[in-house]
Amino acid sequence: MLQILKEIIAGICGEDIMNAYEPVRSTERLDRIWKSGKEFLGSELPVMCGAMTWVSDPQLVARMSNLGAFGVLAAGNMPPEMWADYVDETRKLTDRPFAGNCITIAPNYRAHLDILCEKSVGHIVFAGSIPRAQEVKQAKDSGAKVLCFASTQSIAKRMLDYGADALILEGSEAGGHIGHVSTTVLLQEILFNFDRIPVFVAGGIATGKMIAHLVMMGAAGAQMGTRFVMAEECNVHEKFKNVFKRSRAREAISTPQYSVKLPVVSVRALNNHAMSHFGDLQLELLEMLRKGEINRQEAQFKVEEYWIGSLRKATVDGDIEHGSLMAGQSVGLLRKVQPLREILEELVAEADAAVGDVVARLKG
Ligand SMILES: Cc1cc2nc3c(=O)[nH]c(=O)nc-3n(C[C@H](O)[C@H](O)[C@H](O)COP(=O)(O)O)c2cc1C
Repeated sequence: MLQILKEIIAGICGEDIMNAYEPVRSTERLDRIWKSGKEFLGSELPVMCGAMTWVSDPQLVARMSNLGAFGVLAAGNMPPEMWADYVDETRKLTDRPFAGNCITIAPNYRAHLDILCEKSVGHIVFAGSIPRAQEVKQAKDSGAKVLCFASTQSIAKRMLDYGADALILEGSEAGGHIGHVSTTVLLQEILFNFDRIPVFVAGGIATGKMIAHLVMMGAAGAQMGTRFVMAEECNVHEKFKNVFKRSRAREAISTPQYSVKLPVVSVRALNNHAMSHFGDLQLELLEMLRKGEINRQEAQFKVEEYWIGSLRKATVDGDIEHGSLMAGQSVGLLRKVQPLREILEELVAEADAAVGDVVARLKG
């Protein structure tokens, strides 16, 4: 249907406009090493744009998939009706595969998952904490391929037992909510020990050279977030992108947890008032816990509410001081905003050159 529409528009407007929908092509050499990732995602390139709350909207996700990469729609904690509209809108903009990402600790999580299943979205990513076995089964019964995050070897094993079809291994260099372990260690702990299912690597990746080397180590592909914030087509506030342009890797810091009484998932973001305010919020919540004014689950909800609200402030309203500037350490490698096509072409060219270098070195 979409193909017929494209042909009609091409007839009226000319080929140039239609080229905007042409995917960025892989190379023969790359296809030999990253075929399994492409096949799993159903995309031209095994490059995922990780879900980013308030950032990964239908336009960005569809553009990503139309250009041959793989977009992931972010549910955050949006109202269920809005989530359903997001899925429908994305479908109107692309006939290529994309995923829906739902956060297991979000209050609307169950409704988000039901909607993805009812609408038969092809790939479902479970984020936040560990999904229940029944939830993985529900996703698979809907026909979806399931991707789960694995931050330790035992979680990776558990996700496999639950029936996950692929793993995402995300190191602590990443932007947003993070685990404690770096990509380098997770590669050795998980990637090198799990060759039965596709493993996509995330956290700190910004170049095609890095993707190529990860794939040569056995990864099925890569997931990036921070790099794609710098796409022209990414709808975040201009001020958000401008801070990224001038930030260094060491400015993307992670939040501490003050007490075991209030377990919090660390967040990596650029240092600003929102980061220091989070320290005050933890102290306030700990005091309320001590006085019995709130229970642990309520305190954890307040923490998540804080991040979702402050991320919106920065990405949508452009308040770069009081809003959260979630960013990975790879922010230090990025200096310009580029059209998405150019970013993807650059990634492919760098990846292909890196494989060429290795082949040349092996030949001596
Ligand atoms: C602004 C921002 C928001 C994010 N929101 C989410 C989210 O809603 N769900 C999720 O699974 N990951 C989220 N992430 C993580 C990304 O999907 C991706 O895994 C991560 O950015 C990869 O690391 P990188 O930033 O080093 O590329 C977010 C990351 C950023 C930078």
